[in-house]
Amino acid sequence: MENQVVQARDLVKKYDSHRAVDGISFDVMRGEAFGLLGPNGAGKSTTMRMIACRSPVTSGTLHVEGFDVEHDARRIRRLIGVVPQENNLDPDITVRQNLIVYARYFQIPPADAARRTDELLDFTGLNDKINARVEEISGGMKRRLMIARALLHNPRLLVLDEPTTGLDPQVRQEIWSRLEELRRTQNLTILLSTHYMDEAEKLCDRLMIIDKGHIQVEGTPRDLVRDKLAAFVLEIRDTGERALISVPASVRAIERGGAHLYFADHHELLTPLMNTYEGQRMLLRPANLEDVFLQFVSDTGNE
Ligand SMILES: Nc1ncnc2c1ncn2[C@@H]1O[C@H](COP(=O)(O)OP(=O)(O)O)[C@@H](O)[C@H]1O
Ligand SMILES: [Mg+2]
Repeated sequence: MENQVVQARDLVKKYDSHRAVDGISFDVMRGEAFGLLGPNGAGKSTTMRMIACRSPVTSGTLHVEGFDVEHDARRIRRLIGVVPQENNLDPDITVRQNLIVYARYFQIPPADAARRTDELLDFTGLNDKINARVEEISGGMKRRLMIARALLHNPRLLVLDEPTTGLDPQVRQEIWSRLEELRRTQNLTILLSTHYMDEAEKLCDRLMIIDKGHIQVEGTPRDLVRDKLAAFVLEIRDTGERALISVPASVRAIERGGAHLYFADHHELLTPLMNTYEGQRMLLRPANLEDVFLQFVSDTGNE
Protein backbone atom coordinates (compact mmCIF):
# COMPACT_ATOMS: atom_id res chain seq x y z
CA MET A 1 0.00 0.00 0.00
CA GLU A 2 2.84 2.35 0.92
CA ASN A 3 4.02 2.79 -2.61
CA GLN A 4 0.66 2.93 -4.30
CA VAL A 5 -0.41 6.52 -4.49
CA VAL A 6 -3.51 5.67 -6.48
CA GLN A 7 -5.16 2.28 -6.49
CA ALA A 8 -8.24 1.76 -8.66
CA ARG A 9 -10.10 -1.56 -8.82
CA ASP A 10 -12.96 -2.24 -11.23
CA LEU A 11 -13.68 1.46 -11.21
CA VAL A 12 -16.94 2.44 -12.88
CA LYS A 13 -18.55 5.80 -13.51
CA LYS A 14 -21.99 5.95 -15.02
CA TYR A 15 -23.76 9.07 -16.26
CA ASP A 16 -27.34 7.82 -16.40
CA SER A 17 -26.91 4.59 -18.31
CA HIS A 18 -23.71 5.66 -20.09
CA ARG A 19 -20.60 4.00 -18.71
CA ALA A 20 -17.98 6.76 -19.09
CA VAL A 21 -15.49 4.67 -17.11
CA ASP A 22 -16.20 1.00 -17.47
CA GLY A 23 -14.32 -1.16 -14.99
CA ILE A 24 -10.71 -0.01 -14.95
CA SER A 25 -8.02 -1.17 -12.53
CA PHE A 26 -4.62 0.43 -12.22
CA ASP A 27 -1.98 1.59 -9.74
CA VAL A 28 0.05 4.76 -9.73
CA MET A 29 3.29 4.22 -7.82
CA ARG A 30 5.10 6.75 -5.67
CA GLY A 31 7.46 9.03 -7.54
CA GLU A 32 6.41 8.02 -11.02
CA ALA A 33 4.77 10.02 -13.77
CA PHE A 34 1.79 8.04 -14.94
CA GLY A 35 -0.07 8.94 -18.11
CA LEU A 36 -3.68 8.50 -19.07
CA LEU A 37 -3.86 8.51 -22.84
CA GLY A 38 -6.98 8.41 -24.91
CA PRO A 39 -9.05 10.22 -27.49
CA ASN A 40 -11.78 12.70 -26.60
CA GLY A 41 -14.51 11.06 -24.59
CA ALA A 42 -12.31 8.13 -23.48
CA GLY A 43 -13.00 8.80 -19.81
CA LYS A 44 -9.76 10.54 -18.80
CA SER A 45 -11.29 13.58 -17.12
CA THR A 46 -13.96 11.47 -15.46
CA THR A 47 -11.26 9.23 -13.97
CA MET A 48 -9.30 12.23 -12.76
CA ARG A 49 -12.34 13.87 -11.22
CA MET A 50 -13.03 10.74 -9.21
CA ILE A 51 -9.41 10.70 -8.02
CA ALA A 52 -9.71 14.37 -7.08
CA CYS A 53 -12.89 13.57 -5.11
CA ARG A 54 -14.89 15.89 -7.34
CA SER A 55 -17.16 13.23 -8.75
CA PRO A 56 -18.55 10.21 -6.92
CA VAL A 57 -17.60 6.67 -7.90
CA THR A 58 -20.46 4.55 -9.26
CA SER A 59 -18.88 1.22 -8.32
CA GLY A 60 -15.54 -0.39 -7.67
CA THR A 61 -12.94 1.01 -5.28
CA LEU A 62 -10.59 3.94 -5.48
CA HIS A 63 -7.88 4.73 -2.95
CA VAL A 64 -5.59 7.74 -2.95
CA GLU A 65 -2.64 7.72 -0.55
CA GLY A 66 -4.35 4.77 1.10
CA PHE A 67 -7.58 6.66 1.72
CA ASP A 68 -10.91 5.77 0.23
CA VAL A 69 -12.30 8.55 -1.97
CA GLU A 70 -15.77 7.79 -0.69
CA HIS A 71 -14.97 8.34 2.96
CA ASP A 72 -11.84 10.45 3.16
CA ALA A 73 -12.31 13.14 0.55
CA ARG A 74 -11.12 15.93 2.82
CA ARG A 75 -7.91 14.17 3.71
CA ILE A 76 -7.24 13.30 0.09
CA ARG A 77 -7.81 16.85 -1.12
CA ARG A 78 -5.09 18.03 1.20
CA LEU A 79 -2.61 15.55 -0.26
CA ILE A 80 -3.19 16.18 -3.93
CA GLY A 81 -2.84 19.15 -6.24
CA VAL A 82 -5.23 19.28 -9.16
CA VAL A 83 -5.03 21.08 -12.48
CA PRO A 84 -8.40 20.51 -14.16
CA GLN A 85 -8.83 20.49 -17.92
CA GLU A 86 -10.49 23.92 -17.92
CA ASN A 87 -8.79 26.83 -16.20
CA ASN A 88 -10.84 28.03 -13.28
CA LEU A 89 -8.82 30.98 -12.08
CA ASP A 90 -10.49 34.12 -10.79
CA PRO A 91 -10.22 36.50 -13.77
CA ASP A 92 -10.91 39.68 -11.78
CA ILE A 93 -8.03 39.55 -9.34
CA THR A 94 -4.29 39.52 -9.87
CA VAL A 95 -2.05 36.56 -10.51
CA ARG A 96 -0.62 36.80 -7.02
CA GLN A 97 -4.00 37.24 -5.34
CA ASN A 98 -5.24 34.08 -7.02
CA LEU A 99 -2.66 32.11 -5.11
CA ILE A 100 -3.08 33.97 -1.82
CA VAL A 101 -6.84 33.45 -1.88
CA TYR A 102 -6.46 29.78 -2.73
CA ALA A 103 -4.00 29.27 0.13
CA ARG A 104 -6.79 30.19 2.54
CA TYR A 105 -8.77 27.12 1.50
CA PHE A 106 -5.93 25.05 2.85
CA GLN A 107 -5.57 27.17 5.98
CA ILE A 108 -1.99 27.97 5.14
CA PRO A 109 -0.83 30.69 7.56
CA PRO A 110 -0.53 34.07 5.74
CA ALA A 111 3.24 34.40 6.07
CA ASP A 112 3.78 30.89 4.69
CA ALA A 113 1.24 31.51 1.96
CA ALA A 114 3.05 34.67 0.88
CA ARG A 115 6.44 32.96 0.84
CA ARG A 116 5.15 29.92 -0.98
CA THR A 117 3.30 32.09 -3.50
CA ASP A 118 6.45 34.00 -4.36
CA GLU A 119 8.47 30.80 -4.66
CA LEU A 120 5.93 29.28 -7.01
CA LEU A 121 5.52 32.39 -9.15
CA ASP A 122 9.28 32.36 -9.50
CA PHE A 123 9.33 28.66 -10.29
CA THR A 124 6.65 29.00 -12.96
CA GLY A 125 8.26 32.09 -14.48
CA LEU A 126 5.41 34.46 -13.63
CA ASN A 127 7.53 36.91 -11.66
CA ASP A 128 6.89 39.87 -13.88
CA LYS A 129 3.16 39.20 -13.98
CA ILE A 130 2.36 39.06 -10.30
CA ASN A 131 0.25 42.20 -10.39
CA ALA A 132 -1.40 41.53 -13.73
CA ARG A 133 -5.02 40.58 -13.69
CA VAL A 134 -5.62 37.02 -14.81
CA GLU A 135 -7.73 38.07 -17.76
CA GLU A 136 -4.72 39.99 -19.09
CA ILE A 137 -2.28 37.08 -19.24
CA SER A 138 -1.79 34.55 -22.02
CA GLY A 139 -3.19 31.03 -22.13
CA GLY A 140 0.23 29.55 -21.40
CA MET A 141 0.66 31.79 -18.36
CA LYS A 142 -2.78 30.83 -17.09
CA ARG A 143 -1.81 27.20 -17.36
CA ARG A 144 1.40 27.84 -15.43
CA LEU A 145 -0.58 29.72 -12.81
CA MET A 146 -2.92 26.75 -12.50
CA ILE A 147 0.11 24.54 -11.89
CA ALA A 148 1.52 26.96 -9.31
CA ARG A 149 -1.83 27.03 -7.56
CA ALA A 150 -2.02 23.24 -7.47
CA LEU A 151 1.40 23.13 -5.77
CA LEU A 152 0.65 25.69 -3.05
CA HIS A 153 -0.08 23.23 -0.28
CA ASN A 154 2.87 20.96 -1.12
CA PRO A 155 0.86 18.05 -2.46
CA ARG A 156 2.33 14.57 -2.77
CA LEU A 157 0.40 13.82 -5.93
CA LEU A 158 -0.08 16.25 -8.79
CA VAL A 159 -3.02 15.51 -11.08
CA LEU A 160 -2.91 17.31 -14.44
CA ASP A 161 -5.74 17.00 -16.92
CA GLU A 162 -4.34 17.80 -20.37
CA PRO A 163 -1.77 20.29 -19.10
CA THR A 164 -0.71 21.63 -22.50
CA THR A 165 -3.69 21.23 -24.81
CA GLY A 166 -4.07 24.18 -27.14
CA LEU A 167 -0.75 25.79 -26.24
CA ASP A 168 2.10 26.82 -28.54
CA PRO A 169 5.04 24.43 -28.92
CA GLN A 170 7.47 26.65 -26.96
CA VAL A 171 4.99 27.06 -24.13
CA ARG A 172 4.42 23.33 -24.02
CA GLN A 173 8.18 22.76 -23.77
CA GLU A 174 8.40 25.19 -20.86
CA ILE A 175 5.63 23.45 -18.99
CA TRP A 176 7.27 20.08 -19.60
CA SER A 177 10.56 21.32 -18.22
CA ARG A 178 8.81 22.65 -15.09
CA LEU A 179 7.14 19.28 -14.58
CA GLU A 180 10.38 17.42 -15.13
CA GLU A 181 12.11 19.62 -12.61
CA LEU A 182 9.41 18.89 -10.06
CA ARG A 183 9.96 15.20 -10.53
CA ARG A 184 13.70 15.52 -10.27
CA THR A 185 13.80 17.70 -7.20
CA GLN A 186 10.79 16.57 -5.18
CA ASN A 187 9.44 13.11 -4.67
CA LEU A 188 6.28 14.17 -6.39
CA THR A 189 4.02 11.67 -8.09
CA ILE A 190 2.42 12.93 -11.28
CA LEU A 191 -0.72 11.69 -12.93
CA LEU A 192 -1.45 13.37 -16.22
CA SER A 193 -3.84 12.90 -19.07
CA THR A 194 -3.03 13.82 -22.62
CA HIS A 195 -3.82 13.03 -26.19
CA TYR A 196 -0.38 14.18 -27.30
CA MET A 197 2.02 11.34 -27.94
CA ASP A 198 5.10 13.56 -27.65
CA GLU A 199 3.93 14.68 -24.22
CA ALA A 200 3.36 11.12 -23.07
CA GLU A 201 6.68 9.93 -24.44
CA LYS A 202 8.53 12.83 -22.86
CA LEU A 203 6.95 12.84 -19.43
CA CYS A 204 5.53 9.44 -18.57
CA ASP A 205 7.36 6.56 -16.95
CA ARG A 206 4.29 4.45 -17.44
CA LEU A 207 0.99 4.97 -19.14
CA MET A 208 -2.25 3.38 -20.10
CA ILE A 209 -4.27 3.96 -23.21
CA ILE A 210 -7.99 4.10 -22.57
CA ASP A 211 -10.82 4.20 -25.04
CA LYS A 212 -14.56 4.27 -24.32
CA GLY A 213 -13.95 3.75 -20.63
CA HIS A 214 -11.78 0.65 -21.09
CA ILE A 215 -8.05 0.13 -20.68
CA GLN A 216 -6.59 -0.96 -24.00
CA VAL A 217 -2.95 -1.37 -23.01
CA GLU A 218 -0.64 -0.39 -20.20
CA GLY A 219 3.12 -0.20 -19.77
CA THR A 220 6.20 1.94 -20.23
CA PRO A 221 6.21 3.88 -23.51
CA ARG A 222 9.13 1.82 -24.72
CA ASP A 223 7.67 -1.56 -23.76
CA LEU A 224 4.35 -0.69 -25.33
CA VAL A 225 6.00 0.00 -28.65
CA ARG A 226 8.23 -3.05 -28.46
CA ASP A 227 5.74 -5.55 -27.04
CA LYS A 228 2.55 -4.43 -28.70
CA LEU A 229 3.92 -3.56 -32.10
CA ALA A 230 7.48 -3.97 -33.32
CA ALA A 231 10.74 -2.06 -33.42
CA PHE A 232 10.48 -0.78 -36.98
CA VAL A 233 7.90 0.28 -39.45
CA LEU A 234 7.98 0.89 -43.16
CA GLU A 235 5.40 3.47 -44.07
CA ILE A 236 4.30 3.99 -47.67
CA ARG A 237 2.16 7.01 -48.47
CA ASP A 238 -0.49 7.55 -51.12
CA THR A 239 -0.99 3.91 -51.95
CA GLY A 240 -4.31 4.62 -53.67
CA GLU A 241 -6.25 1.52 -54.61
CA ARG A 242 -3.30 -0.74 -54.15
CA ALA A 243 -3.69 -3.74 -51.85
CA LEU A 244 -1.27 -4.65 -49.09
CA ILE A 245 1.52 -6.96 -50.14
CA SER A 246 1.45 -10.43 -48.67
CA VAL A 247 4.22 -10.73 -46.14
CA PRO A 248 5.82 -13.42 -43.96
CA ALA A 249 4.50 -13.99 -40.45
CA SER A 250 7.37 -11.94 -39.00
CA VAL A 251 5.95 -8.82 -40.62
CA ARG A 252 2.61 -7.25 -39.78
CA ALA A 253 0.83 -5.29 -42.50
CA ILE A 254 -1.90 -2.71 -41.93
CA GLU A 255 -3.62 0.07 -43.83
CA ARG A 256 -4.07 3.41 -42.16
CA GLY A 257 -5.33 6.65 -43.63
CA GLY A 258 -4.37 5.85 -47.21
CA ALA A 259 -0.94 4.55 -46.19
CA HIS A 260 0.45 1.04 -45.95
CA LEU A 261 2.41 0.19 -42.83
CA TYR A 262 4.60 -2.85 -42.32
CA PHE A 263 5.85 -3.57 -38.82
CA ALA A 264 8.79 -5.86 -37.99
CA ASP A 265 11.38 -6.33 -35.28
CA HIS A 266 14.29 -6.15 -37.71
CA HIS A 267 14.53 -3.62 -40.45
CA GLU A 268 16.14 -6.20 -42.74
CA LEU A 269 12.71 -7.78 -42.95
CA LEU A 270 11.32 -4.55 -44.35
CA THR A 271 13.93 -3.54 -46.90
CA PRO A 272 12.85 -6.14 -49.51
CA LEU A 273 9.40 -4.55 -49.48
CA MET A 274 10.87 -1.23 -50.48
CA ASN A 275 11.61 -2.49 -53.99
CA THR A 276 7.99 -3.39 -54.50
CA TYR A 277 6.96 0.17 -53.86
CA GLU A 278 9.73 1.81 -55.83
CA GLY A 279 8.99 5.37 -56.81
CA GLN A 280 6.51 5.99 -53.99
CA ARG A 281 6.96 8.15 -50.92
CA MET A 282 8.13 5.90 -48.14
CA LEU A 283 9.77 6.06 -44.78
CA LEU A 284 11.55 3.38 -42.77
CA ARG A 285 11.53 4.45 -39.13
CA PRO A 286 11.38 3.17 -35.55
CA ALA A 287 7.81 2.43 -34.46
CA ASN A 288 6.52 4.94 -31.89
CA LEU A 289 3.80 5.50 -29.35
CA GLU A 290 1.53 7.08 -31.92
CA ASP A 291 1.55 3.81 -33.85
CA VAL A 292 0.51 2.00 -30.68
CA PHE A 293 -2.16 4.55 -29.96
CA LEU A 294 -3.66 4.34 -33.43
CA GLN A 295 -3.56 0.57 -33.24
CA PHE A 296 -5.49 0.39 -29.99
CA VAL A 297 -7.90 3.25 -30.29
CA SER A 298 -10.91 2.68 -32.47
CA ASP A 299 -11.66 5.16 -35.28
CA THR A 300 -10.81 8.84 -35.07
CA GLY A 301 -11.54 9.50 -31.46
CA ASN A 302 -14.45 11.84 -32.00
CA GLU A 303 -17.39 11.25 -29.76
N1 LIG B 1 -20.99 15.54 -16.45
C1 LIG B 1 -21.27 14.66 -17.40
N2 LIG B 1 -22.53 14.27 -17.66
C2 LIG B 1 -22.79 13.36 -18.62
N3 LIG B 1 -21.86 12.78 -19.39
C3 LIG B 1 -20.59 13.13 -19.20
C4 LIG B 1 -20.22 14.08 -18.21
N4 LIG B 1 -18.87 14.22 -18.24
C5 LIG B 1 -18.42 13.41 -19.20
N5 LIG B 1 -19.45 12.75 -19.80
C6 LIG B 1 -19.34 11.73 -20.87
O1 LIG B 1 -18.47 10.72 -20.40
C7 LIG B 1 -17.58 10.30 -21.41
C8 LIG B 1 -16.14 10.51 -20.96
O2 LIG B 1 -15.90 11.90 -20.87
P1 LIG B 1 -14.53 12.48 -20.33
O3 LIG B 1 -14.16 11.80 -19.07
O4 LIG B 1 -14.68 13.96 -20.28
O5 LIG B 1 -13.52 12.04 -21.47
P2 LIG B 1 -12.06 12.59 -21.83
O6 LIG B 1 -11.61 13.45 -20.70
O7 LIG B 1 -11.23 11.38 -22.03
O8 LIG B 1 -12.23 13.37 -23.10
C9 LIG B 1 -17.95 11.07 -22.65
O9 LIG B 1 -18.82 10.29 -23.43
C10 LIG B 1 -18.66 12.29 -22.11
O10 LIG B 1 -19.59 12.80 -23.01
MG1 LIG C 1 -11.02 15.39 -20.69
